[in-house]
This record gives sequence, C-alpha cells and structure tokens, in this order.
Amino acid sequence: MSLLDKFSVAKQLKSGLANAGKDPTAVVFDAINSATEAVVEGRTTILAGTNNYLGLTFDADCIAAGVAALQTQGTGTTGSRMANGSYAAHSALEAELAEFFEVPNALVFSTGYAANLGVLTALLGKGDAVLLDSDAHASLYDGCRMSGVDIFRFKHNDIQSLERRLARLGDRVSRCLIIVEGMYSVLGDCAPLAEIVALKEQYDAKLLVDEAHSLGVYGEHGRGVAEAQGVLDKIDFIVGTFSKSLGAMGGFCASGHDELGLFRYVSRPFMFTASPSPAVVATTRKALHQLRTRPELRESLWSNARRLYSGLQHLGFELGPEISPVVAVRCKDRESALRDWNQLLEAGVYVNMMLPPATPGGASFLRCSISAAHTAEQLDTIIDRFASLYD
Ligand SMILES: Cc1ncc(COP(=O)(O)O)c(C=O)c1O
Repeated sequence: MSLLDKFSVAKQLKSGLANAGKDPTAVVFDAINSATEAVVEGRTTILAGTNNYLGLTFDADCIAAGVAALQTQGTGTTGSRMANGSYAAHSALEAELAEFFEVPNALVFSTGYAANLGVLTALLGKGDAVLLDSDAHASLYDGCRMSGVDIFRFKHNDIQSLERRLARLGDRVSRCLIIVEGMYSVLGDCAPLAEIVALKEQYDAKLLVDEAHSLGVYGEHGRGVAEAQGVLDKIDFIVGTFSKSLGAMGGFCASGHDELGLFRYVSRPFMFTASPSPAVVATTRKALHQLRTRPELRESLWSNARRLYSGLQHLGFELGPEISPVVAVRCKDRESALRDWNQLLEAGVYVNMMLPPATPGGASFLRCSISAAHTAEQLDTIIDRFASLYD
C-alpha cells in the first residue's frame, strides 16, 4: 500500500463526474462580464451560483478603492500581522466592523475559513464541549476538530434535539459552545436564533453564529439573521466572511467579550498566515460602506429572490423550506442532478451542484444564489431553462 493509493477514491469520483458531462469542479470562466454574467466555452452564461448577494464585485466605488490601495500601499503585506505589523487599514476595518455590530471588539482574518479555524481553536480545547448543528459548514467542523474539543451534533434547527444535548452535559455545560449558522448555505433556511438564545441563557452556555451567508442579506441594517430576530446583542461570537455579500475576501469575528482581543496572541490561523492585502481590505471597507448606506441593494436582492422562488415553485420543483436568496432545487437522485446541471450549463445558466455526502439529508440539489444585480430578464431566463429540464 503506497502513500498515493488513497487517491483511487478521488480518481473514481473524478471519472464519474466526467462521464456525466462536464466536471463541475473544473468549470472555467474565460471572461467575467459582470456580477451576473460570464463566458464559459464561448457561451454567455448567467451566473446563478456565486453568493454575490449584493452584486458588489463590479461596484465602481469598490473597484476604485481597491485600485487606489494598490497604488498607494502595494500589492501585498508579505507577512502576518504578528510578525510584520498591521496596516492602518486592517485596524480601521476592525473598528468599522465593531461599530457595525455595536460591540467593542472585532478581529479580521485572511479568509472566512481561517476565521472559523482561528476563533474555534483559540476558544476551545480538550475538556470543553461543542454542540454543533448537523448542517454546519465544514470550516466550523474543522475548527472544532483542530481544537480537540468534544463535538456533539444536534439535529439541524431542532430545538428539542439541542435541549436534550444541553441537559445531558450536566456540569460541563459551563464549558459549552453552541455553534450554528444564520442562514444555511445549501437550503437557504435560517436558524431559530431567538429560541437558541433562550436555551443558551437558560443553560448558561455560549453561542457562536456564523453569518457568512446572511451578512448584508438579513436584518434592518443588514447585520444578519441575529439582527432580524432581535437577538444580536445576545450572541457571544459572530463570525462571517467578506467573500460573499461584500464581494471581496477575508473573514471576521465580532464580540462583546474583551477576550477576543487576546485571540491575536493565541490563534494560530490568525498568527501564522499573511494578513489580507491592501486592495482586498480597501474593497471590503468600501463594500461594507455600500452595505450600510444602500439598503436598496437588499430590497432588490429580496425582490429577485421572491421572483425566482415563486417561478420555480410554480413549475413544481421541490425547493428549500423558505424564500431566501439561496434557492435550492431538490433532485430525484445524484444522476439526475448531474444530468440537469450539465443541461443548464449548456443552456447558459451556471448553478451550483450539491452532491452527498456534504448535503442535508444526503440529497442532491441544484443550488441557485440570487444577486441584487440580477435583472428580471436574467431571472426569467433561469426559470425558463429550468422549465426546459422537463422537456
Ligand atoms: C457558513 C460558511 N462559513 C465559512 C465559510 C468560509 O468562507 P470563505 O470562503 O470566505 O473562506 C463559508 C464558505 O462557503 C461558509 O459557507
């Protein structure tokens, strides 16, 4: 048995995908025309799987901010903040995030994935306990694994399941972190945060909410699902990413706990990687400004989400449980998901293919994510192309 033999499983997976048509992991966008359109193999293609919720990737002000930062601060920081120091813009972004979430502390990481690893490995260790929603993102699970904490999963969005596990912890509950997401990325459903907060207070546990897909999307000010459900000030740690609604890259944690400031000294995924580049920080700051000052982006996003959801529902597709900017179409099985995904791509619509095992209930989905930048015409074309899957 050689070190490389284990790749036989990946080889089989690769050839299985290729046999069904195009390999979804190997799609190349030869040109990016806008936030919602690209060119794939010479075909103009509507992007309906980008997480570009506010459509800010081509925002003129964000681009100008990035260009100015490149010209005045250079292309990269060439090191970590621990060893090479912070740029003023890193600290400014942290201050702006803290103000946005109305908490005293915020910390910026190089990616959303690193934010979850960095927060969880700093916060958790052997002897602590985590109650993790069964549909939580891989980065949350990986952070827990890396920390050595005991992981107990509860049924997705199931309050009774969470309460049973809390009760079972006994005295250990004081060393317990509950981990959920705001809006879940595959089905677009939201956590019942108000009920989860009530439980965490009853049991005196702590709560971390990953708002990766809900920042800029939910809440009166776009702060996420916790804001929408009126419990933002009850969340111990809010984490998220700049790579979705803000159209940039990087991750963050915001918290009322002053210990977050000490994560700089102990969080290895913060300490041992290069800090975000000046252009990325500048576009992120400008995008956060747009999120705060242009609520009409959120309004367009929601009106687009409603249009796509009701169009697909009308055609008889089985969709996620609530209208949201993630519209997931449940497929009969893996084979039909592969076939339909290829047919949509050939018809000029790019969506995400979600296959088991990393899917809720082990089902297969074609996942659309809606953008404020989609036009009504593009949305109607997407609906029309889904309709032709029946032909
Ligand atoms: C819930 C959740 N958390 C974290 C991440 C990681 O964010 P990033 O891609 O910015 O590293 C993702 C990315 O898909 C996500 O869906």
